[in-house]
Amino acid sequence: KLPTMISIKQLAESPGLTSVPPTYTFTPNPNDHPVSDDQKDSIPVIDFARLTSGTPDQRSKLVHDLGKACQDWGFFMVINHGVPESQMKALIKACGEFFNLKEEEKQEFAGKHVLDSIRCGTSFNASVDKVLFWRDFLKVFVHPKFHSPTKPSGFREILLEYSKRTRKLALDLLEGISVSLGLEDGYMEKAMNLESGLQILAANFYPPCPEPEVAMGMPSHSDHGLLTLLIHNGISGLQVQHKGKWINVNSIPNAFVVNIGDHLEIVSNGRYKSILHRATVNEKATRISIATVYGPSLDTVVSPAPELVNLETNPPAFKGMKYGEYLEMQQSNKLDGKSCLHHVAV
Ligand code: OGA
Ligand code: NI
Repeated sequence: KLPTMISIKQLAESPGLTSVPPTYTFTPNPNDHPVSDDQKDSIPVIDFARLTSGTPDQRSKLVHDLGKACQDWGFFMVINHGVPESQMKALIKACGEFFNLKEEEKQEFAGKHVLDSIRCGTSFNASVDKVLFWRDFLKVFVHPKFHSPTKPSGFREILLEYSKRTRKLALDLLEGISVSLGLEDGYMEKAMNLESGLQILAANFYPPCPEPEVAMGMPSHSDHGLLTLLIHNGISGLQVQHKGKWINVNSIPNAFVVNIGDHLEIVSNGRYKSILHRATVNEKATRISIATVYGPSLDTVVSPAPELVNLETNPPAFKGMKYGEYLEMQQSNKLDGKSCLHHVAV
């Protein structure tokens, strides 16, 4: 058994830490895309109120905007989503309390296998990461069966409420996206078996870092599911790749940051692409972010929707693979751009 890795929280709190230890130090890649300094570079905003309470005209305008956001950016913010701010705040607070548990208490939830329903740790996959990331995480499967760590007290109730409430939002967004692709009503729900679809909550903890320019919270990657919904504690750090640049995401308070995952790229036969993103760290403040990934059921074999494939003009770009197998591959390897998606590309 490997020795337990020190958490980044513990490392960051070591007295007198003034530099990043070599095991966490990245050599900047001279060929990396530059970070945009243009304030106008910002991900689109989707006003969700128009999907649920709008007229049919407003609804179809929204589906159009949603499709455009997926096509042009693959990342967008959702406002007027109806999820109570108090539930979002409560979960961020509860996750902060989880990471503040004693190290031996957190150890109870470490997990052994990458597909365990509850798993916490540091970096991404510390046994294969060459350089460690400035990040601790907690990952919990909350659907189709709800799981939760038993500590801190009250965590379970807050997680359950948030998970149920955001699931509805995510499925509505997926339905809108599915319609924007020209697929028949309910296609996504049926073909992806969303009734028993997997939903994973991943909480990220990025403490202050003495040399943020040489450490990385999370490296460039795409998400494995269909759709990811992200919230955070108001500290920025998320960057999204767009037209050869890294764009800082400065999200509207209380908005969800939504992005397309690899499996939506597969279903849409490449029409909508999963987008590379990463998390940077900073010298001053602890950043907490909570990503929820909504995916097909673990046993669904996902391949491009037949309606979006034409053998002559638009052949299938991906071969079918079980979501569970894909997930295991993604979680067992290094986090490396879109390498998993390339693995299923035709
Ligand atoms: C993730 C992720 C970004 C962030 O958890 O998959 O990309 O801002 N997080 O923490
Ligand atoms: Ni991500």
